[in-house]
Amino acid sequence: MANLLVTGGAGFIGTNFVYYWLDRRADDRVVALDALTYAGNRASLVAAEEQDNFRFVKGDIRDEAAMAQLLREEKIDTIVNFAAESHVDRSIVGPDAFIETNVIGTHNLLKAAKTVWLDGDDAPATHRFHHISTDEVYGALGATDPAFREDTPYAPNSPYAASKAASDHLVRAYHHTYGLQVSTSNCSNNYGPFHFPEKLIPLMIVNALTGKPLPIYGDGSNIRDWLYVEDHCRGIELVLEKGVIGETYNIGGRNEWRNIEIVREICLLIDKAFATDPGLAKRFPDAPAAAGETTSSLITMVKDRPGHDWRYAVDTTRITDELGFAPAESFESGLKKTIAWMFENETWWRAVMDGSYRAWIDSQYVAR
Ligand code: NAD
Ligand code: TYD
Repeated sequence: MANLLVTGGAGFIGTNFVYYWLDRRADDRVVALDALTYAGNRASLVAAEEQDNFRFVKGDIRDEAAMAQLLREEKIDTIVNFAAESHVDRSIVGPDAFIETNVIGTHNLLKAAKTVWLDGDDAPATHRFHHISTDEVYGALGATDPAFREDTPYAPNSPYAASKAASDHLVRAYHHTYGLQVSTSNCSNNYGPFHFPEKLIPLMIVNALTGKPLPIYGDGSNIRDWLYVEDHCRGIELVLEKGVIGETYNIGGRNEWRNIEIVREICLLIDKAFATDPGLAKRFPDAPAAAGETTSSLITMVKDRPGHDWRYAVDTTRITDELGFAPAESFESGLKKTIAWMFENETWWRAVMDGSYRAWIDSQYVAR
């Protein structure tokens, strides 16, 4: 039995992780902590909040005293730190928030963990600080470069990636200097339910359904490795269960796609869904597919992102060989599930986009 603190628990991956854990670990207690920035949505946790072994706390990882108090109050023995500013484009126009949360916030959370777990009298018998990071800390690859390994030198290019790299180093230092029991995982691009529609995949789906342009940065040739979010949660679970303290693990899908190819694939899947379900045309009349036109007619090439990393690819040999990790979802099955989720949760994405979560919460209570 463990007492987990999931920071950033109302964000995209944090929410999925909360449900993943509650579904599998009925004996554990899960406390989700989130500052509820624009990206955090308490309504996403509405089903979790009905469970006795779950609690939501609105709070900020930068608040060291509050974090220490929460660790004591809830007898937390495991922190999974998702809390972060996470969008590269936002980090380009406003990097300060990324330094504040990703660097100072992670450091303050580490300090709180050290105070309670190492320096206090009421520490749990064992503890773990698991830090969630990204493959973007390794920089960008050329077409023939080998994929990022755990020992690839850090070379972050965006303010987002640099702030995540700094936080990874702090986590490592708290292990080596103070003996905090840490682990870190660096994952590739996730997609799936509860994904905020500012990132590529959910934005393309929402724009396709509402008849808006599908903006492709540059020439669309940039490559990312994509992993269904539940597979990321499975990887984190393996690291928590069997990972070596002080180590880092890359998590990825061995699933590299050019942006333009992904967007074309999403367009095709949406066209097919409209062709087989006539109800969709009534629900989404502004979608080109509702009029029998191709969704790809919305594709619009736009100005490139400054400093746009060309390719990310992740070598997952360590987590595969040492911990037995394997993604369960193919890209096609994962994309189909994601699009189906967006069809079913129209109220959620409309509400997160205009900030009115209430309607979605109400629809969830009615549905149960
Ligand atoms: P997200 O932006 O959807 O969620 C981040 C959450 O953190 C939000 O709910 C936000 O309210 C919360 N938050 C922000 N500042 C906070 C603070 N100071 N205190 C407490 N909570 C705060 O991001 P995500 O996509 O779910 O990413 C989660 C983590 O996974 C991040 O650390 C990110 O770097 C990492 N990651 C993401 C991806 C991806 O593809 N999305 C891939 C690899 C790693
Ligand atoms: P994004 O989802 O922002 O993730 P990241 O930048 O962290 O990889 O973007 C994924 C890729 O898609 C990236 O190469 C930028 C590109 N992109 C577009 O072409 N158009 C868009 O509207 C967005 C949001 C991203």
